[in-house]
Amino acid sequence: MSVPAKINLSLRVGARRPDGYHDLSTIFHAISLRDEVTVESAPAGSGRTLEVTGGQVDDVPLDDSNLAARASIELARVLGLPEPDLRIHIAKSIPVAGGMAGGSADAAAVLVACRRLWSADIDDAALLQVAAKLGSDVPFSLHGGTARGTGRGEMLTSVLARGELHWVVALNEGTLQTPAVYAEWDRLVESGVAAPGGSDDDLLVALRHGDPADIGPLLANDLQVAALSLKPALQTVLETGLELGAHGGIVSGSGPTVVFLADGRDAALDLAVALSGSGLVRGVRHAVGPVAGAQVIR
Ligand code: C5P
Repeated sequence: MSVPAKINLSLRVGARRPDGYHDLSTIFHAISLRDEVTVESAPAGSGRTLEVTGGQVDDVPLDDSNLAARASIELARVLGLPEPDLRIHIAKSIPVAGGMAGGSADAAAVLVACRRLWSADIDDAALLQVAAKLGSDVPFSLHGGTARGTGRGEMLTSVLARGELHWVVALNEGTLQTPAVYAEWDRLVESGVAAPGGSDDDLLVALRHGDPADIGPLLANDLQVAALSLKPALQTVLETGLELGAHGGIVSGSGPTVVFLADGRDAALDLAVALSGSGLVRGVRHAVGPVAGAQVIR
């Protein structure tokens, strides 16, 4: 399975709900930074084995607390099957706890893989429901493309977006835990430093036309102020990318990854080289979007 990272072209955070989640209005966008996930049946009674290779492996749990393992358990439960015996291998390229839904992507890949492995009679709509139960971003990892998310992010409608956008992904040191970033957002709102608001109407029009020069300045992320409050060094990364000619730059989701929208492929490659040379970031990647959601590759 191949499954993409997501970024949020816009992330508007609404009220905190009684269940602890926040109502969102977001525009998800899947980009070509991908994890590869292999799922194989294991001998009966052997349980689940999870192997992770690639960067930041030390930050990934290898037991049933991993969302990918939980995805197989939850799908088996919904299908009325016994606890599955599986070998799951994840080759990670998506940053761990980086604000790009890497864990959600792996869970989405496992859902699609297990459906196929078990020849399960479950349609896409029902699979999306299982995904939503696992996490707010898992349905979009199945869906891919560009889509508006409401509710806590799990209710999706496709967005019309023309052409291919070129992104430079700036990987930053350390991780940010999503609940901590939302808690910091709540604190900033309560103390009057931050306020929710704004409309995505202009961004939706710009996406329909597909000109990065129009889209870039309209990228918006309410959680950025919270991520910057927890990791002030990200401000310099953002400013540097914009000075180097990006049309727009934002913290991705809850961070700490920062993404920049370039004018096209050549501009993205130039920006990637310059950002890498700045010494401010742990690494850079060039990616395009939108791309498809979780897909079987063999
Ligand atoms: O749904 P998921 O498990 O990915 O969410 C992780 C955490 O992010 C939640 O426990 C919650 O603290 C926060 N969150 C939120 N509102 C959302 C989505 C996530 O407060 N809409």
